[in-house]
Amino acid sequence: MNENEQILSPTEIYKRLVGYVKPYWKAFSIAILAMVVFAATETGLAAIMKLLMDGSFVDRDPATIKLIPLLLIGLFLIRGVANFITTYGLGWIARNVIKSLRAEMFDRLLVLPASFYDQSTSGQLMSKLLYDVEQVANATTDAILTLIRDSLIIIGLLAWMIYLNGMLSLILLLTIPLIAVLVFKISSRFRKISKNIQDSMGNVSHISSEIIEGHREVKTFGSQDYESERFNQANQDNRRQSMRMVSTDAISQPIIQLITVLGLAGVIYLATLPTMLESITVGGFISFITAMFMILTPLKRLTKINSKLQRGIAAAQSIFTLIDEVAEPDLGTKTLARARGEINYKAISFAYNNDGHNVLDDISFHAKAGQTIAFVGHSGSGKTTLVSLLSRLYPIQQGAIEIDGINIDELKLDDLREQISLVNQNVILFNDTIANNICYGHKESVSNEKIIAAAKAAHAWDFINQLPEGLATQVGQNGVLLSGGQRQRLAIARALLRDAPILILDEATASLDSVAERHIQQALDSLMADRTTLVIAHRLSTIENADTIIVMHDGHIVESGTHTELLAKGQHYAELHRLQFQTNDSSD
Ligand SMILES: Nc1ncnc2c1ncn2[C@@H]1O[C@H](COP(=O)(O)OP(=O)(O)O)[C@@H](O)[C@H]1O
Ligand SMILES: [Mg+2]
Repeated sequence: MNENEQILSPTEIYKRLVGYVKPYWKAFSIAILAMVVFAATETGLAAIMKLLMDGSFVDRDPATIKLIPLLLIGLFLIRGVANFITTYGLGWIARNVIKSLRAEMFDRLLVLPASFYDQSTSGQLMSKLLYDVEQVANATTDAILTLIRDSLIIIGLLAWMIYLNGMLSLILLLTIPLIAVLVFKISSRFRKISKNIQDSMGNVSHISSEIIEGHREVKTFGSQDYESERFNQANQDNRRQSMRMVSTDAISQPIIQLITVLGLAGVIYLATLPTMLESITVGGFISFITAMFMILTPLKRLTKINSKLQRGIAAAQSIFTLIDEVAEPDLGTKTLARARGEINYKAISFAYNNDGHNVLDDISFHAKAGQTIAFVGHSGSGKTTLVSLLSRLYPIQQGAIEIDGINIDELKLDDLREQISLVNQNVILFNDTIANNICYGHKESVSNEKIIAAAKAAHAWDFINQLPEGLATQVGQNGVLLSGGQRQRLAIARALLRDAPILILDEATASLDSVAERHIQQALDSLMADRTTLVIAHRLSTIENADTIIVMHDGHIVESGTHTELLAKGQHYAELHRLQFQTNDSSD
């Protein structure tokens, strides 16, 4: 995720964001029109001041005196409607953009390679989906609102002031560039801090999600203090970064106001010079000063919006990096309806990192259709890696794997994975009913009879039947409401129903005691019948009937043969066997 991360320039980010707003250009145009109207009412207000002063108070013209209250009401009516249209329109666009961005991120998450997930935490990804997207929406709305409407207000008022008195306006025109330079300087600082805030927010959510998911471990290992300390640091870091944002914000505003007031003081000084007094009416001067004060608010917002805008850019950056992540390569073109299930590993070598350490080294073996190949070896010897290459969870680096004589790289990814069912130690259940968990991955609806048949074959029906709601029982998040053995049997039922010609069992029964395991073994036996099975065994007793047993050590195949052959050899397998029977005697 980090090595090929491309930093987009702010311009590129703007361009892409504009792309998201494009489909809503009609609503956007209406909103802008409403902004123009709103800005015009602002200038109108300043203009009314001149009318009020010169007409009502100085000339005491009765028509003007009657007109002004009506004018005011009309002006505010228009203003209110314009304001509503702008806020509603921009809000509507922003929510739609959020929806599209979320959908794109989610779709991307579905196709990202396993290596991406190895390098990111769920907390950081969640934070992108939830927090960063909202930040972008805030930016698009507020920034557009302020940048367009407030700039228009400033332009309108300036034009009015120049119309009133060019000389006086000159002073103001001198102070505005000064403010602009200042704003520019501040904005780059905001952007840097924003990125830090986001990272620290990611840490906060990552640590919390870890203890939420691992609350049992935290309790049993008594690591509350440790976790609390770890969280404290992330929390503190988040506070520190946010405070830097606050302080930059707090300092920049008074400075900008001071500059503006200097300009104002200049105007008042100039206007009260004797020569000037003749060139401007009372109403003109009051209107000028009013306009000047009215310019302050949008100006202030213009500087304030920067923190939001920059936060939005940083958030958009984070979102686009996720959306731009490279999906799993799927260059294969060959289709395969249903494989016979012959598997051929040809001199496979594999490394997770570029550190030169091969996790797999020159692995070759052959499984005829319907055979069972078992892998044994110490943990870390590469067994899981070996079988995950078959589903192309990681790209094959050296050597080749064939199914039915076809190089799996040449197969369409969907077709390849269609051939493979997986049951591993870590059963993932979805927060749904038992029935839906069993038929997970089926595109058409599956009849209850079929689900029940699978559940029966998986020896799961007995316990499902005893649940108050049977198949319709909700299993809770990741099946917390079920025991390890029950979850395992659901996973087997799922694999049975999937009915793929190739089956991978990765320590499928490792988390069970031997009584439960014996029970599940029958379920597994019915699952393995007529399928090519790659089984990684925790207990050697479960694989004695395998056609071939492959012993792995440190990424190498050190031995292979049948149970009897390997025992007779009296080497690695025999040693593992001896060790396990010793421990089994004491633990089971
Ligand atoms: N996703 C991964 N990223 C980097 N290294 C990994 C990853 N998964 C496993 N490894 C490393 O590869 C080696 C083999 O692991 P694995 O295939 O899980 O072995 P086994 O299943 O036999 O216990 C180990 O040294 C392990 O640390
Ligand atoms: Mg493993």
